Amino acid sequence: MFDQAYWEERYRAGGHHRQVPSPQLVAEVADLPPGTALEAGCGEGANAIWLAGRGWRVTAVDISATALERAREDGADVPVDWVHADLTDWTPPAEHFDLVSAHYVHPTGPPGALFAKLASAVAPGGTLLVVGHDPADHHSVPEAHSTTADVIAALEPDRWDVVVAESRTRVATDPHGRGVELHDAVLRARKRS
Ligand SMILES: C[S@@+](CC[C@H](N)C(=O)[O-])C[C@H]1O[C@@H](n2cnc3c(N)ncnc32)[C@H](O)[C@@H]1O
Repeated sequence: MFDQAYWEERYRAGGHHRQVPSPQLVAEVADLPPGTALEAGCGEGANAIWLAGRGWRVTAVDISATALERAREDGADVPVDWVHADLTDWTPPAEHFDLVSAHYVHPTGPPGALFAKLASAVAPGGTLLVVGHDPADHHSVPEAHSTTADVIAALEPDRWDVVVAESRTRVATDPHGRGVELHDAVLRARKRS
């Protein structure tokens, strides 16, 4: 369902609207010193651009060429390494990033393999932040849902400390300009040194 053609069509049909960074990212990164970051499934780049503006050295990956074109445009004044790749077959450098962040990335197939791959890219002492559509979120389709337990199940238990595992609400604007309350599953974990 969520293959490359789906995302290309979704971005082309939706038009280019400059996005704001995720409130979950802003909250969870506030206490981290800048370092290297991987933004997985970066879409139109708001999170990557926000991180780069705060001194992070960011690699941002997405399967949609259209989304990346817009990200490059919006992020023209900050250094981000934009990578056009499919996260299901692109392998990030192992144990490399101080922060690996993924928001609402739900590839075709079970997400556990992707979560494990993202976790393997976190450097010792680094942070994994995965934000998904909580199953309580009736605005998203069930195929897009994930829970914090899904992410935790993909982590090697003796290598990680879970810092945050909770469902949070946020308010977004729907295509008709109305405010809607959405539910996020937020998992933040620190890889042991
Ligand atoms: C719901 S959007 C979220 C975009 C962005 N993270 C945000 O929060 O605004 C999901 C993103 O993941 C990307 N994506 C989905 N599957 C992917 C894959 N297999 N490899 C790389 N990117 C993928 C899509 O192109 C899309 O930009």
